[in-house]
Amino acid sequence: MNRRNFFKMGLAGVGVVVFAKKARALEYYPMPSDKKWAVIYGTWCGSSRDAAVWISEGMGGIANVFDVRENPNPTEFDHIIIGGSIRSSVTRKELQDYIKEHQSVLKEKVRGLFAVCGNMGQPVGPQQTAQFIDNHLARLCGVTNVPSRVFLGRITKCLLDPQTAQMMAGMEDYDHLKRSECMAFGREILEKVTSSIGKTDQVPKEFRVEQNYPNPFNSTTTIHYVLHTSGNVKLNILDAKGEKVRTLLEKYHLPGEYTLQWDARDDFGKYVSSGSYFYVLVLNGAPIVKKMLLVK
Ligand SMILES: Cc1cc2nc3c(=O)[nH]c(=O)nc-3n(C[C@H](O)[C@H](O)[C@H](O)COP(=O)(O)O)c2cc1C
Repeated sequence: MNRRNFFKMGLAGVGVVVFAKKARALEYYPMPSDKKWAVIYGTWCGSSRDAAVWISEGMGGIANVFDVRENPNPTEFDHIIIGGSIRSSVTRKELQDYIKEHQSVLKEKVRGLFAVCGNMGQPVGPQQTAQFIDNHLARLCGVTNVPSRVFLGRITKCLLDPQTAQMMAGMEDYDHLKRSECMAFGREILEKVTSSIGKTDQVPKEFRVEQNYPNPFNSTTTIHYVLHTSGNVKLNILDAKGEKVRTLLEKYHLPGEYTLQWDARDDFGKYVSSGSYFYVLVLNGAPIVKKMLLVK
């Protein structure tokens, strides 16, 4: 090969690398889907990357898989599964920062959370779920009651940076990450979401909030609401000036009919005074407001 051709090939190679960098997300869709799914992970040595790929595999491969450092745009997806490896009890800083930055979007779209840890080789129990999911990832995303899983991962010392490898010198390599467990988690989440959006004939046709009853009321009143789609639901009670007095509910819901009661107390458990109040129910960012009257 002459010098010129060698040089041209070099340039082409650079082009491929640049292009590859832009299109790094693992694009799947072996199974047609009208919903866009993403699995986003944070990792040091790759355990969580494998977990994320296998979660998508369990979903028939419909989810795109991203390292959080690729900074995927969460608004481009309908459903997101997010998680990562644990060091010193927390996930990578980049993952934490990403979740904080996109919390308002993620809050509406997160359908599953996962962590990959060592747990000294011991089986994962409720303590790890509380530590890595409830008190860490779920809190960062601002969600509750989202399906979650903590997987046992691996240590491959030759993949660690020299300083960390030296720190872990006394520890043997291990690999407890199970493809079948990750796939089962992906399958479970997909089934949960599709069963809630698939049966359109059994699902209410519209998002509706009924007038509370009794109204006026003097101690407790009931609020009935109907959801036509799954999503994050928030119900706030506001006073006549529009100031929030109570968050009555903040939770992921499947479509269906629900009832809630308000006991005329504020967020601090104190009874509020007589007067007009509003209740605002927000489903996936869309609010419905109704007025009610408390008479003591
Ligand atoms: C420096 C270091 C700190 C770790 N800290 C924890 C920890 O606090 N709790 C835990 O359960 N596992 C811990 N682990 C284990 C990892 O979470 C586990 O090996 C995981 O699979 C690593 O993921 P990675 O391949 O993305 O690095 C630690 C591992 C390393 C190397």
